Amino acid sequence: MDLHLEGRHFLITGGSTGLGLGLARTLVDEGAHVLLVGRSQDKLDAAAQQLTDAGASGRVLTKPTDVRDPDILQAAIDTAEREWGVLDGLVNNAGVHTSGGFENTTDEEWQADFELKLLAKVRGIRQSLPLLRKSDAPSVLNVLSIFAKFQPPRSMPSSVYRAAGLALTNGLSRDLAADGIRVNATLIGFVHSDQWVRGAAASDQPVEDWEAKRASDLGVPLGRVGRTEEFADIAAFLLSPRAGYLTGTAINVDGGLSMVI
Ligand SMILES: NC(=O)c1ccc[n+]([C@@H]2O[C@H](COP(=O)([O-])OP(=O)(O)OC[C@H]3O[C@@H](n4cnc5c(N)ncnc54)[C@H](OP(=O)(O)O)[C@@H]3O)[C@@H](O)[C@H]2O)c1
Repeated sequence: MDLHLEGRHFLITGGSTGLGLGLARTLVDEGAHVLLVGRSQDKLDAAAQQLTDAGASGRVLTKPTDVRDPDILQAAIDTAEREWGVLDGLVNNAGVHTSGGFENTTDEEWQADFELKLLAKVRGIRQSLPLLRKSDAPSVLNVLSIFAKFQPPRSMPSSVYRAAGLALTNGLSRDLAADGIRVNATLIGFVHSDQWVRGAAASDQPVEDWEAKRASDLGVPLGRVGRTEEFADIAAFLLSPRAGYLTGTAINVDGGLSMVI
């Protein structure tokens, strides 16, 4: 199926590693152009090199950006405006894993997670609207977690802001429908990415073994960690004109892990 992504333009937050980079690879393979943002210039350079070495047909731009800072975020969006003059899609993917015991989580930790997981999305969408309105098929994709729909023990503060991200997705799909801007989400269960490579390294285990044990401990019904490309295929479809009648939806990418549809 041709996703009609050729020549389209996407800004991916957290595009330097893991799921964001996997999505970038799929998009440039389809002939789309990507602007990758993340805090580390080194990681962005490595990501761009990987995509170029793999023979990307789309163009790859990078901009070091901490999405929690509205001025720096605006500078990334200005780069898209200067280089392209349009955005066909904004992917709100930047995030870090946070969870812990409720009683010991400080106000500062709640605030930091709020700024990264919710406020940065709100600002990124608001600040991108003028560029999204210049596209004939604009959309926003919020990369969330299945904990948006159910909150297991010791899953806060992340799960609370994931639930808020789901509400943002649903509410904005109606607010922005008049502009033709679709807003959707993916709810990730356990999908291979650099954060799990780091997790395995921290426990001094091969990543395959570490992921297999974690998939088993979590009780993933399909019995394995998801592949990055499996996430990227769903995300690319949601961003594409082929998903033109989908808005306000959230797709579980979790091998059946979620107890909630
Ligand atoms: N993989 C999973 O199983 C899973 C499960 C549930 C949810 N998720 C969510 O999916 C998203 C992608 O995660 P991943 O697994 O691909 O993790 P990852 O490999 O660690 O990638 C995270 C990306 O976010 C960037 N980032 C982090 N903080 C940032 C900030 N303040 N400003 C700008 N960029 C920032 C990182 O780059 P820098 O460090 O250079 O900034 C990196 O590019 C995250 O939101 C994560 O919480 C993933």
